[in-house]
Amino acid sequence: MGTPTSPHPVLKKYYTHEGEKQPFVTALFDGAARYYDRVCGVGSLGSGQFYRHYVLRQYGLGRGMKLLDVATGTGLVARAAVRILREPGDVVGLDPSGGMLREARRTLSVPLVQGMVEDLPFGDDGFDFLTMGYALRHMADLAVALKECLRVLKPGGRVLLLEISRPRSALGRWLTRIYFETVLPRVTRLSTGSAQAELLMRYYWDTIAECVPPETILEVLRASGFVGVDRRVRAGVFSEYVGVKPAR
Ligand SMILES: C[S@@+](CC[C@H](N)C(=O)[O-])C[C@H]1O[C@@H](n2cnc3c(N)ncnc32)[C@H](O)[C@@H]1O
Repeated sequence: MGTPTSPHPVLKKYYTHEGEKQPFVTALFDGAARYYDRVCGVGSLGSGQFYRHYVLRQYGLGRGMKLLDVATGTGLVARAAVRILREPGDVVGLDPSGGMLREARRTLSVPLVQGMVEDLPFGDDGFDFLTMGYALRHMADLAVALKECLRVLKPGGRVLLLEISRPRSALGRWLTRIYFETVLPRVTRLSTGSAQAELLMRYYWDTIAECVPPETILEVLRASGFVGVDRRVRAGVFSEYVGVKPAR
């Protein structure tokens, strides 16, 4: 896969070329960070802490493992991981947004690192489990990001990517669009009073609507070197992508 694999095209409503995407995204999350957990609580359609905890267990996270939570944000996945691993030192969170990390520090005592998935500041083969919750769409290049994820995992280590996808049925797509495009931004504005939080939810939907299909994500996972690559969908919208780093 020689060409860059962007998760969605340039969204001219928000930024004018690919190079502006990351600064735009980071500023957006910085500005909405203090509202993020509230908005997630209201708008996650069940994709809350129960779900994050459930899927981590389901895909085999267990005590004694070391987990890297990429795009940790305010730490929602990392918090669920700490409940399972019981050792805050066994979870590391990484995110480029200083605002999101500041929020994470209020409730989490795990090591938090400012950085990006495209250039992970960790050595090879260090983690048993790597999670990335609802952040795939924000990467500059899926292939670069996923190769980095593979590099820092131990042989036999597992990646778990959580994403929102468009449902297959026309009715499901229509309902999802109404919910994410119209209801959620308005509820967000009403419950937070923040234009930044509303903008985050509008951008959220536009990236879902424009995202490459799940088959492409599976293909990039395989091309990056993961084996046992699979996708499970719940309720038509919650996608779980998994892959394993081959044993040597
Ligand atoms: C929707 S939040 C997800 C937070 C958390 N994982 C969750 O489950 O709620 C997306 C996060 O991705 C982060 N992000 C954006 N670009 C990134 C990049 N290149 N590398 C790592 N994280 C990135 C954002 O700063 C933001 O905190």
